[in-house]
Amino acid sequence: MKVNARSIRDKKSPAHIAIILDGNGRWAVEKGLPRTAGHEHGSKAVRTAVYGCHDRGISALTLYAFSAANWSRPKGEIETLMRLCAEFAENEIDELVRRDVQVTCIGDIDELPRRTRKATEALVEATKGCKGMKLALALSYGGRQDMVSAIRQIAIRARAGLVIPEEVNEASIRSFLSTGNLPDPDLVIRTGGERRLSDFLLFECAYAELFFTETLWPDFTLETLDEAMAAFSRRQRRFGKTGPQVSAEAG
Ligand code: IPE
Ligand code: IPE
Ligand code: MG
Repeated sequence: MKVNARSIRDKKSPAHIAIILDGNGRWAVEKGLPRTAGHEHGSKAVRTAVYGCHDRGISALTLYAFSAANWSRPKGEIETLMRLCAEFAENEIDELVRRDVQVTCIGDIDELPRRTRKATEALVEATKGCKGMKLALALSYGGRQDMVSAIRQIAIRARAGLVIPEEVNEASIRSFLSTGNLPDPDLVIRTGGERRLSDFLLFECAYAELFFTETLWPDFTLETLDEAMAAFSRRQRRFGKTGPQVSAEAG
């Protein structure tokens, strides 16, 4: 039987990839460089990931670039990370528009220093009408903080009589999360060898496939991306059903 390559790809490709980009500091230390050099090189890998996903027809990509907990790092390291985020937004704006990528920010953007906030806001504004891949930048993001904010907004509306508590459900909670415009991630990639979520998309990752690689983020290449996507295509996602049930449904 002739197999339709496209239908297989559609079924087996993740629609939404989320990446925890980790290992910049260790990459630099291994080379006898300051940790900030790892972040500098890591920002090149960010471009590889964004344009690699775009070229592969991925519909949504979320990048965990700076967590709410990362504010407790040394001041100089935070400054480098914030400058690199600003430079990404400033330098890539034309290419992202050209590629029709719609950028959003998740996280507490008000916490960002002025240049980073302005540059990311300008990028979000310039790409808001784009219809291609969605790119969510997680900056000063924390999954628990996002859930707390959603619950607080629902409670405030309930007090005002705008929400009936008994009617609060998964969909209404989701609509108050900062990821409300994105589908749940299908595949989470974490570089750097750690096997944890570090407060990333806790609600949204309920059924995500997790792919951990020892590759440090500055060494992330298209091969790493393809390896993760290939691993994803071999997984059977069961969502609570049995393997035979899922196989039968797949025909
Ligand atoms: C990822 O690399 C960058 C951020 C978390 C912002 P790290 O800086 O965490 O690198 P390691 O884990 O210390 O090697
Ligand atoms: C997770 O990396 C956060 C980001 C990638 C932005 P960390 O390096 O901060 O995670 P932990 O502290 O090792 O869990
Ligand atoms: Mg780390």
